[in-house]
Amino acid sequence: METVVSGIRPTGNLHLGNYFGALRNFLTMQNEHNCYFFIADYHSLTTHPTPADLHGNVRQILVEYLAAGLDPEKSTLYIQSDVPEVVELYLFLNMNAYIGELERCTSFKDKIRQQPENVNSGLLTYPTLMAADILIHRATKVPVGKDQEQHLEMTRTFGNRFNRLYNVDYFPEPQAFNFGNELVKIPGLNGSGKMGKSEGEGNAIYFADEPEAIRKKVMKAVTDSGPTEPHQPKPEAIQNIFQLMKVVSAPETFNFFDEMYNTCQIRYGDMKKQLAVDMIAFTEPMRERIKSISADEAYVSRVARMGKEKAQENAAKTIREVREIIGFKRF
Ligand code: TYM
Repeated sequence: METVVSGIRPTGNLHLGNYFGALRNFLTMQNEHNCYFFIADYHSLTTHPTPADLHGNVRQILVEYLAAGLDPEKSTLYIQSDVPEVVELYLFLNMNAYIGELERCTSFKDKIRQQPENVNSGLLTYPTLMAADILIHRATKVPVGKDQEQHLEMTRTFGNRFNRLYNVDYFPEPQAFNFGNELVKIPGLNGSGKMGKSEGEGNAIYFADEPEAIRKKVMKAVTDSGPTEPHQPKPEAIQNIFQLMKVVSAPETFNFFDEMYNTCQIRYGDMKKQLAVDMIAFTEPMRERIKSISADEAYVSRVARMGKEKAQENAAKTIREVREIIGFKRF
């Protein structure tokens, strides 16, 4: 049995990228493995949310996890800040995490560009906090999208370094996991890059979006004037809509438009209309469940309390053992 850990930052609603990159992979594991899923609210402090936004976003993601099919009886579903043991491990790991390697991390370099007015040390040590999330449960598998690959590499480095420093074989090497094997990057609708909450208005499709909002965003997706020769390679923006169609539409639909492209008969308006219909159908069941679960205050609170208890029990055991290894002995 594997121990599985993954998390999502509560900085906005759940989008298709989160689902195909991470959540869908969790769901394939919860029946057989020892699974921990959490809401990374400590991580979200790097962008300085207001208290009201922080709480609202945590609640929303908790509801969306449940709506997506996470079973709190099978998995441990918890809020990161309910398990402060994570912070103690973060401190220990930071003692052996070097400034140079943290500065070279791609996500840190991206953040410096995105928020030059707020380059705080939480951003620099983001990978050690993430490593603490994973190592606190001594996880072996971490379902994530492609953008988290480097963080997993760093987690292995920090775990191995701890093992070497104290001459123990305590932390296993966690591997990034996707049940289709390749880690994925779901593109956004604005022509380049990935679907994401910080990638601009209209780029991401959220499960909580109303059908009309989805239709509008899809119809505005960036395209071009179409291929001029048969079997021309697809430019990035076009490849992106095809990739989105691949994940939400039937294979026949994808093949039909692919054929139209290859024979220069494609009409992007028609393709986007179809993509919008398929996205609305794909997100429909979750949209309904989000509404009903969100209305059940008692259930949401019960889930959070139950997760805290289960996650804390395991985290406390790790911290006890790590303290012992480091040399914090009882007097
Ligand atoms: P976050 O909140 O940015 O995203 C959550 C998960 O969704 C995946 N994802 C995507 N996958 C494919 N295509 C996309 N367009 C896309 N956008 C997002 C991310 O890869 C991620 O798996 N650092 C993490 C949160 C975290 C974490 C952890 C994850 C903190 N500690 C420990 C795993 C284990 C993050 O910022 O994800």
